[in-house]
Amino acid sequence: MSKGALEPRELRRVFAAHPSGVAVVAGLVNGLPVGIAASTFVPVSLDPPLVSVCVARTSTTWPALRTAPAIGVSVLGAHQEAVGHRLGARTGDRFAGISWRATIDGAVLLDGAAAAFECTIDRHVDAGDHEIVLLAIREHEHTEDIAPLVFHGSRFRALA
Ligand SMILES: Cc1cc2nc3c(=O)[nH]c(=O)nc-3n(C[C@H](O)[C@H](O)[C@H](O)COP(=O)(O)O)c2cc1C
Repeated sequence: MSKGALEPRELRRVFAAHPSGVAVVAGLVNGLPVGIAASTFVPVSLDPPLVSVCVARTSTTWPALRTAPAIGVSVLGAHQEAVGHRLGARTGDRFAGISWRATIDGAVLLDGAAAAFECTIDRHVDAGDHEIVLLAIREHEHTEDIAPLVFHGSRFRALA
């Protein structure tokens, strides 16, 4: 087991051994969709219903996104790899060519996702160079027959 100084780039490579899903966290800001892809989405609590996502402190999108009246979380399906690339891009119009809809309350959800949640921000928890954002679920939907997109080893994959 490797000890000594924990170098962030190396640690990122080790974290990449942990497979995760990919969610798009998005909301309406001044009438326009704003969002990011997140591999740190985690279901947290059933009662009360909570999920979480870790957002980098360096994110320039989160300060705007957190002002949205509601936050949509769309769990991407295996057929949405291109969506994961687009929403995870650092530059460019992330919603160009993406099929999305806004809820009445202003959450942005992606069409064709395996599952979707409409949330509000419950609280932020400081966590090093990220913030853990706890989201309270207001509404949810699930499409049983959509296989999930998987992020593992810094690559998008599908379940075999
Ligand atoms: C597969 C994938 C997963 C990502 N997961 C996260 C995440 O969990 N948290 C995060 O803050 N950024 C994550 N990102 C980066 C954001 O999607 C986005 O690229 C970044 O927030 C852009 O920078 P900006 O916030 O300054 O606009 C991920 C990117 C990709 C491609």
